[in-house]
Amino acid sequence: MQKKKLVVLTGAGISAESGLRTFRDSDGLWEGYQIEDVATPRAWRKNPQLVLDFYNYRRRDVLQAQPNAAHVGLAELENDFDVTIITQNIDDLHERGGSTNVLHLHGEILKMRSERDEELIYAITGDIMLGDKAEDGAQLRPHIVWFEEAVPMIEVAVPIVQQADFFAVVGTSLVVYPAAGLITVADDAIPKFIVDKKIPYTSSVYNVTAIEKPATEGVKDLRELLLRLK
Ligand code: APR
Repeated sequence: MQKKKLVVLTGAGISAESGLRTFRDSDGLWEGYQIEDVATPRAWRKNPQLVLDFYNYRRRDVLQAQPNAAHVGLAELENDFDVTIITQNIDDLHERGGSTNVLHLHGEILKMRSERDEELIYAITGDIMLGDKAEDGAQLRPHIVWFEEAVPMIEVAVPIVQQADFFAVVGTSLVVYPAAGLITVADDAIPKFIVDKKIPYTSSVYNVTAIEKPATEGVKDLRELLLRLK
């Protein structure tokens, strides 16, 4: 029998229990740094060294982190569902947790690209230095979607969400668009679930079950509820 389609939108909260800090909780990552000083095209023009330092540091954290039970639990749902993970996270913990179909809306910290040509992308595990060049001769930058930049992967994500039989959200404050809008793209009639330690406000979204728990516990509940509906 064909598996039903489950789409899961994830955010920083799913990686919190792996030791990676979220953005908007009180110990948020941006503390000490203004977002516009490290994650905007203007920051890159003004002080590329600071931007590279910021992401080089975060890359080391990601490489040290391990997937947690929430990442693994979502991967295991592939036994019963046709799962697509749409993540705002730039870490690779879904992939290392076993998920095989992961779409990164906001880029990936383990990749870099030419600052001139966004198609020239390379895998990395080390630091990016000023003076490191892509094959087109342009400076390499993190393969990250910065504030004020377009989110090209949203075009891929929208039709996937439109075709979902089930839609779940795990660990995102649902404040950054266009990602946050995906919950309203899902069909009103399908069951939706939100797993978060503090459920974010959503208006005019139908059929939502809230699971107010840390991701590692909440994904277990999500799994039970989904298996009943399968
Ligand atoms: N389990 C479940 N949820 C958690 C946990 C946890 N252990 N810890 C925190 N959360 C929840 C918070 O309650 C919050 O709703 O995770 C969410 C984290 O929200 P944000 O910090 O805003 O992260 P996110 O939604 O991923 O941010 C979106 O903003 O800065 C940009 O590009 C960046 O992709 C990021 C985007």
